[in-house]
Amino acid sequence: MKNYIKPDEWSIIEEGFDPHHHQISESIFSLGNGRMGQRANFEEAYSGQSLLGNYVAGVYYPDKTRVGWWKNGYPEYFAKVLNAANWTSIDVNIDGEQLDLAKCEVSSFRRELNMKQGYLKRNFRAKTATGKEVEVEAIRFCSMADDETAAIKYTVTPLNFSGNITLTPAIDGDVVNKDSNYDEKFWDEVSKANQPEGGYIVMRTKKTGFEVATGMQFTVLQNGKSVQIQAEAINKEKYVASKVTLQAQQGQSIGIIKYVANLSSQNHKPEELVDKLNATLNRVSQKGFDTMLAEQAAAWAKKWEHNDIIIEGDVSAQQAIRFNIFQLNQTYTGEDDRLNIGPKGFTGEKYGGSTYWDTEAYCVPFYLATADQNVTRNLLLYRYKQLGKAIENAALLGFKNGAALYPMVTMDGTECHNEWEITFEEIHRNGAIAYAIFNYVRYTADEAYLADYGLEVLLAIARFWSQRVNWSADKGKYVMLGVTGPNEYENNINNNWYTNTLATWCMGYALEVAEKVKDSSPEQYVALLARISFDEVTEIAKFRDIIEKMYYPYDDAQQVFLQQDGYLDKEQILVKDLPVADRPLNQKWSWDRILRSCYIKQADVLQGIYFFEDRFDTETIRRNFDFYEPRTVHESSLSPCVHAILAAKLGDEERAYEFYLRTARLDLDDYNNDTEDGCHITSMAGTWMSVVEGFGGMRVRDGKLSFHPFIPEKWTSFSFHMGFRGALLNVKVSRDGVQLKNLSDKTVSVVVYGKEQIVNANTELLIKA
Ligand code: BGC
Repeated sequence: MKNYIKPDEWSIIEEGFDPHHHQISESIFSLGNGRMGQRANFEEAYSGQSLLGNYVAGVYYPDKTRVGWWKNGYPEYFAKVLNAANWTSIDVNIDGEQLDLAKCEVSSFRRELNMKQGYLKRNFRAKTATGKEVEVEAIRFCSMADDETAAIKYTVTPLNFSGNITLTPAIDGDVVNKDSNYDEKFWDEVSKANQPEGGYIVMRTKKTGFEVATGMQFTVLQNGKSVQIQAEAINKEKYVASKVTLQAQQGQSIGIIKYVANLSSQNHKPEELVDKLNATLNRVSQKGFDTMLAEQAAAWAKKWEHNDIIIEGDVSAQQAIRFNIFQLNQTYTGEDDRLNIGPKGFTGEKYGGSTYWDTEAYCVPFYLATADQNVTRNLLLYRYKQLGKAIENAALLGFKNGAALYPMVTMDGTECHNEWEITFEEIHRNGAIAYAIFNYVRYTADEAYLADYGLEVLLAIARFWSQRVNWSADKGKYVMLGVTGPNEYENNINNNWYTNTLATWCMGYALEVAEKVKDSSPEQYVALLARISFDEVTEIAKFRDIIEKMYYPYDDAQQVFLQQDGYLDKEQILVKDLPVADRPLNQKWSWDRILRSCYIKQADVLQGIYFFEDRFDTETIRRNFDFYEPRTVHESSLSPCVHAILAAKLGDEERAYEFYLRTARLDLDDYNNDTEDGCHITSMAGTWMSVVEGFGGMRVRDGKLSFHPFIPEKWTSFSFHMGFRGALLNVKVSRDGVQLKNLSDKTVSVVVYGKEQIVNANTELLIKA
């Protein structure tokens, strides 16, 4: 755990340069706008440890699978988001010496991620080996208002000399992925050119053939004013740059404004990329840096208006929650249904930037409440469009008749995961995709979605479950063998309670939706059934039979749902009794020892109780929580939020807060010693859930929002925004009570502590404590 980020309500601030923190900071200070993103690599050269990362959403490479022992059914490749052309580079040369913070004496250093306005600012003073001291200021952002563009303003002031300073803004396409399976480079050069005050490169990905045009146009500054300087063009393989040499006077700044555009063949015809790139660059450079920055601030102000959470009385918590909201918004803006949310977003290579069940289980609740409903709808459409591949994927594993198994990890719908216990067995992900449809419709009331797309996905998923179970003559029940639940510290188990529960729920929900669609849109219903050859009589009867006769492991003595058959055969030593030196288990124990132990990586039975809370009385929830929580090691960042929400539901405010703390500053404090790989973007949605569903007790029931809030002891108040069916509410919880502000023109009815309240349009209401 680290503690070097300075507390601030709106900014993430690092002061002083410690190279050991640099890669962590490269992740934390990452920028993105949904269309592209990049780690906080320095503009000038840096010879210390660094992970370069510039990513273009949706542009990936199918890296050939590398496994020790091939198993039938493994995917051929793992699709990974690519480190793309580096557009941030501005080399600085001072009278023949390259500016490189790894080789300089750095007397002051500060970086600030300004979350309110969406930019990264870095200031430092450094002395070169020959004693020349400079002050540098660099500001950059990825434009939210114009999402194919970015800009950097970089100034250098000589402090103790006058001399020649050369600035070399570049676009460098000669980049690698650290996680490349065979040390290959993934890009070929298509074309490049130096242009007056700029240049571009078009690169093409091997195998997938995506083309990305990355270009720059720059303005040279002397003493804050733009000047015309003859630049020297540099043109190497996969690299274009312009060398600008200036006579710099002591105490007077020189600099560059670098306008950047990144256009991909996903959005433009390859043959038009260069013309469009140049038009974009002309447009933004004419607009100018200050206007772009003002637009950026305005775009972020609009976002914050809808999704800010204000915590009074705890700056560190305030900073953390804003950081989580900020990163989620940088990762996914919901404008394009071909894009999704990688567990590390644009902040690192880990998890290949691919889509996991994290999106449906954790991110959907966040986007439902904080963004226009189309944002979530696009996440659902992403899966709808991949239904064909999910059906192919299931067919490869021997399933028939249109049964769909969505992949554990994917970019375009094809399964990319290659560990048998996950690829073939962690099939609960299928349920999360169905649950997200349910959640979306419950939240938005957009029932048309069900007839247009939802039912087709639900039936295909239900078909999968109906084929995945088998009848046990011994038990006289349906069982599901050989699965891995969300707790990946158990593999190839029988009757995972969560998966069995989810499977029958999916079948039941599919039937319920089928009834609804049959009633509301009979023509669409008939057409769909014909298209997917769904046999209403036999298939529905089969689903019903399974729902009725499914087996769920249960322990009568302790009256808890059993995570799986045989769970109680394990030695039941609680986490609190484990030697501290043994944690985290995944770094300290052999895999077989983990598998034989009772320790649970992440919420499993409790994930099911969270999803289907309304089915259980409080005592049942309490018994299961009290049984499973002491056995859970939370070695997935997705876990504590579920425990926080359930603890809050059970009135255990202290523990709810403890669980929340485990995710809120996970990256800012490098809690798990792994932030250098990238930030835990999907679990950031879990932090938001802990506040809104945990402390705020927010639920959607009977088409209404309901709240059952409490304030963590350390806080004076907290407030959050919720968009709901065209209304926008601000809910503030303080010691005085719950204040509801309706910021929209629509009257809403909400339930607070079990009592219905009507909040008229543009009015507020205080429900006294
Ligand atoms: C978790 C999975 C999750 C994945 C990506 C794993 O450690 O166990 O549930 O989908 O990380 O976040």
